[in-house]
Amino acid sequence: MCGIVGYLGEREVVPLLIDGLRKMEYRGYDSAGVVVVRDHALAAVKAEGKLDRLVERLAQHPLHGLYGLGHTRWATHGAPSERNAHPVLDSRRRLALIHNGIIENFLELKRRLIGEGFTFSSDTDTEVVANLISSYLDGDLHAAVERARRELEGLYAFAVVSAESPEGEIIAVRQGPPLILGRGQEGRNEQFLASDPAALLAYTRDVVFLENGDLARLRRGSIEIWDKGGQPIERPTQRLNWDPIQAEKGGYKHFMLKEIHEQPQALQDTFGGRVDFETGEIHFDTLHLDRPTAAGLSRIHVLACGTSWHAALIGKFMIEELARLPVEVDYGSEYRYRDPIVDSSVLALGVSQSGETADTLSAMEAAKERGARLFAICNVLGSQATRISEGVVYTHAGPEIGVASTKAFTTQLVAFYQFALYLRQMRGMALEPAHLQALAHLPQAVTQALEQEQHLEEMARRHFRAENFLYLGRGINYPIALEGALKLKEISYIHAEGYPAGEMKHGPIALIDEHLPVVAIATGARVFDKVKSNMQEVKARDGKVIALTDRDPADLGVQVDEVIRVPRVHELLQPIVNVVPLQLLAYFIGLRRGADVDQPRNLAKSVTVE
Ligand code: G6P
Repeated sequence: MCGIVGYLGEREVVPLLIDGLRKMEYRGYDSAGVVVVRDHALAAVKAEGKLDRLVERLAQHPLHGLYGLGHTRWATHGAPSERNAHPVLDSRRRLALIHNGIIENFLELKRRLIGEGFTFSSDTDTEVVANLISSYLDGDLHAAVERARRELEGLYAFAVVSAESPEGEIIAVRQGPPLILGRGQEGRNEQFLASDPAALLAYTRDVVFLENGDLARLRRGSIEIWDKGGQPIERPTQRLNWDPIQAEKGGYKHFMLKEIHEQPQALQDTFGGRVDFETGEIHFDTLHLDRPTAAGLSRIHVLACGTSWHAALIGKFMIEELARLPVEVDYGSEYRYRDPIVDSSVLALGVSQSGETADTLSAMEAAKERGARLFAICNVLGSQATRISEGVVYTHAGPEIGVASTKAFTTQLVAFYQFALYLRQMRGMALEPAHLQALAHLPQAVTQALEQEQHLEEMARRHFRAENFLYLGRGINYPIALEGALKLKEISYIHAEGYPAGEMKHGPIALIDEHLPVVAIATGARVFDKVKSNMQEVKARDGKVIALTDRDPADLGVQVDEVIRVPRVHELLQPIVNVVPLQLLAYFIGLRRGADVDQPRNLAKSVTVE
C-alpha cells in the first residue's frame, strides 16, 4: 500500500527520501514521486512504475533542497499513472500533498471546489485534499489543514508542505493508516516522518506513533501534535527495537528466502522468555489477561485476513483442544457486515502481522463496540491493532519485507500455541511437560525441514510449468493446504486450491488427471489413514501425488510420485514444520517462472484500505 516519507533538516533531502521509499517498496506500489521545497517554490518529480524509473527521472531533472516529501502509490482512485502519482499539487501550486487511504466524500468536495475555481488534473481523491487545504490557506498551513480535515470523511493519512511556509514545516494528519514521526539524532536539527518504521530505521529509532485524529507539525527544532479536538497533546517517544540489518537481504537473493530461513530464530524469539521450563508455566508481559477474565470467557472470536486468517484457523484447533473454549474464526472483511453475537464474555482476538490491515481493524473495533474484550496477536510494536487492544501477544518475527508472509505466519502459530496454553493455565487446567518440551524442540525441527531446500528446488524444476495445483490436508493441516496454495498463487501466479482432503470426492476429484500435481499433507496420527485413502483416490485417477510426510515413504501404503520428508513434532505444532517446505516450493516455482517473488503483482504487504 502507499508509502509516505518526509524529511526536514540539514541534509540533502532527495537521497534520504528515495532511501526511505526503497525501504517501503515491499509494501507494494505502482508509481512514485518526490517533492522538494526550496526558495519558496515546490519542485516535484514523479514516475509510473518502479522506483528505478523515478531515480532515472531525477537524474535527468535533479532536485536539491533540505526538506520535502516522498511517496509510493498503490492505486485506488484512478489508474496507476504518472498523472495520478503523488505528490499532488493544488491547482494554485501553493502546496504539495501525499496521501494514503480513501476520502469517501471526495466527489462532493470536488464539485464544490470546481465551483470555487479550482481545477483538477488527476483522477485522485488526493487532489481534492490539496485543493481543499489551498482554499483555506492564508499564511498559516496548520490552520488551513486543521480546517480542511474537519470536512474529510474516510480513513486516511497525509502529509503536506507549502511553498509559503516562512521557515519550513511539514504538516501531517493521521485518521486511520499509520504515521510515525522520527526524532533526529542528538545535535542534528532534523525531523522525519513515515508510514512504516522500516523507512526510519537507518536514521533514527526514536519515534512517535501518531494516534487517530492527530495532526502534527514538524519543524527543524520541534515536533508539535494536536489531537482530534484541536488541543495540543504530548505523545510518548518510543524506541524501536528492530535491528536495521534485519531489513536488509543479508546475502540472500530475495527477502522471502531470507525470511524463510530466519524462521528457527524467529520462533525461538517468539516463545523464548515466555516459558518457564522449571515451573512449567507460561507468562506474557504484554497480554494483561487475568484469571477471573479467563475463567469468565464463553467464546473466542478470531479476526484476521489473508495468511493471518490461516493462522487463526490453526489457532482454533489449539485453543479448543488446550483451553476447551469454543472458537469462531472470521475474515475481518466479513465479520463487521454480519450480525455476530457478542457480549463481554467474548474475547475478540485480532491477528495481524502489520497491525494495520483495515478490514481486521474494523472487525476488531466492531467486536469491541459490541462489548467484547479485545486482544491482539501482532508483529509490529505500536501499530493500531496493538493500540486498540487491552493486551497483545507480540510475535517477535522482526521486520517481514517479502510480501508473501512466511516467518510472520509461523510465529503467529507459535504465539497461538502459547496463548492457548496460557488460557488453559488461567482456566485452572494443568500444563503437561510435553506441551512445553514440544516448543523447545521446534526450532531444531524447522531447521531440519529447511534442509530439504535443494530437493524442493529440483521439485520446482519438474513442476513449474503446471497450470494448476491442488493441496490437500485434514484437521489442523487443512489450513496448511490453504496456505501452501496461497503461497503458490501469490508468487508464481499458478492457480492453486487448498482443500480438506475428505471433501475432495465432493468436487475437486473431477479435476484430477495426469497433469495435476496434488500435494497431500500426510503427517500425524489422527487422520493419517484417512489421508492415505485420499492419496489412493488421486492415484487411481492417474493424478500426480507429492506426499508431505513425517513417515517412511514405505508406510504410505500407496506408490506416490514424490515425497517431501518433514520431522515429526507435537501434533499441534506440526503445521509449523509442514508449511516450511511448501513456502520453499512456492518460492522456487515462482523463481523459475521469472516472477517478482518479493513484490508480486497487484499485492500489497499491508492493505490499509477496505
Ligand atoms: C496482505 C498481505 C498478506 C497478509 C494480509 C494480512 O494481503 O499480502 O500477506 O497475510 O495482508 O496482513 P496482516 O498484516 O493483517 O497480517
